Amino acid sequence: MTDTIIQDAIEYVTQLFDGEPSGHDASHTLRVYHNAMLIASTEPDCDEMTVALAALLHDADDYKLFLTTDYANARTFLENAQVGPERVADVCEAIGSVSFSKNRGRRPRTLEGRIVQDADRLDAIGAIGVARTFMFGGAREVPMDGCIRHFHEKLLLLASEMNTEAGRRLAVERHAFLMAFLEEFEREQAETLGE
Ligand code: ADP
Ligand code: NI
Repeated sequence: MTDTIIQDAIEYVTQLFDGEPSGHDASHTLRVYHNAMLIASTEPDCDEMTVALAALLHDADDYKLFLTTDYANARTFLENAQVGPERVADVCEAIGSVSFSKNRGRRPRTLEGRIVQDADRLDAIGAIGVARTFMFGGAREVPMDGCIRHFHEKLLLLASEMNTEAGRRLAVERHAFLMAFLEEFEREQAETLGE
């Protein structure tokens, strides 16, 4: 999708996340956008523009990064871009349903929200998921064993909780990589520390 609005949204989030060190930088958003469009292409009933905008703006009002309320950063972009009120509502609904902790594990209500949630989860597993976890840990002073605990408490559960068929398929290799990483980590740890 090469619409100008998509280009503008990419520029907007690139500026918004400039210098963000905790694994939520603009490249995370761009990977989520890419994976969301890949999944959307296998879901004929979805609204691709809503998926694209929700993916690009999904972390624009994350409470861990910004002090905004009611999706103010996302709304600012959408209103400046003259997106109609119905689509603004759909995009905000999708964004609000993506976060796992905020929704206590409930599935997003809309197909567009489900697609963006799957795309966000794909970026939390695989080699990129490993890298982001330690980036987050470094930025927030989570010790290494805390990061390893996060794999067990959250990341290993994600592949079995995907919403879409394509999301499930894309998660298989990434999940296998997480398992392989942990196995090797624990092997080296046991070899040296006997833990
Ligand atoms: P998103 O909002 O993109 O879904 P999160 O905000 O939950 O993701 O987390 C961002 C990144 O930081 C993810 O890769 C996640 O695994 C990692 N992360 C979140 N919480 C912790 C933690 N307590 N320890 C280590 N890494 C974490
Ligand atoms: Ni995200």
